[in-house]
Amino acid sequence: MEVVITASAPEAGALAADAIEALVRAKADAVIGTATGSSPLPIYTELVRRHRDGTGPAYDGVRTFNLDEYVGLPPGHEQTYLATIRRELTDALGLTRDQVHGPDPTEAGLPTAGARYEQLIARAGGVDLQLLGIGSDGHLAFNEPGSSLGSRTRIKTLTARTRADNARFFGSIGEVPVHVLTQGLGTILEARHLVMIATGAGKADAIAAAVEGPVSASCPASAMQLHPHATVLLDEAAAARL
Ligand code: GLP
Repeated sequence: MEVVITASAPEAGALAADAIEALVRAKADAVIGTATGSSPLPIYTELVRRHRDGTGPAYDGVRTFNLDEYVGLPPGHEQTYLATIRRELTDALGLTRDQVHGPDPTEAGLPTAGARYEQLIARAGGVDLQLLGIGSDGHLAFNEPGSSLGSRTRIKTLTARTRADNARFFGSIGEVPVHVLTQGLGTILEARHLVMIATGAGKADAIAAAVEGPVSASCPASAMQLHPHATVLLDEAAAARL
């Protein structure tokens, strides 16, 4: 695992943006695995800035696949992860809706949503570069502690801690969905390059466990240690316990 400690979140974001742009320049039909939450925002800000100033690559052939999605929000709700990634990244890069994917959380489709999403990713040729954040409890996507290291895309129940962490995006904790669809750890590990970004002191314990602790379901992000090409981009605060 390659661990890069930078002075600030924007610097970490710029390094991830460099990796994405290099990939897209080398492979016009690249498949990018997108992550939501606040951690990847410096990456998206930088990609959008470079696109607007004309120095970024063309994204016409790129496809994106979100890691996860809430279950139970009305379609189009601004906090669905599909709406979030369009707003924060893909609309600004000029990607059409057909290029942007996420697990399907509609009630009728739920029983088959995991398998259908995996097929969609496989048909696109698999994920070239998967962006990742990390939860304060070490969760990856919505794979909470205890998730099997070989797990596939499926429905999960959020822990009280994750619902509390994510309540800031909603009016109150009661509005945070209880159920989600998430790529499994086994699914995520199939991406050809994993790029995690973590910033701030609140992530220091989770990063220490993920990077230097044992590979264990009690810290789902430690599964990254099993991957042959994983990059972890940190600011000094998130790296403080390494
Ligand atoms: C959510 C997402 C994760 C993300 C985590 C951390 O639970 N499903 O993909 O890594 O939040 O969020 P943040 O980056 O806002 O701390």
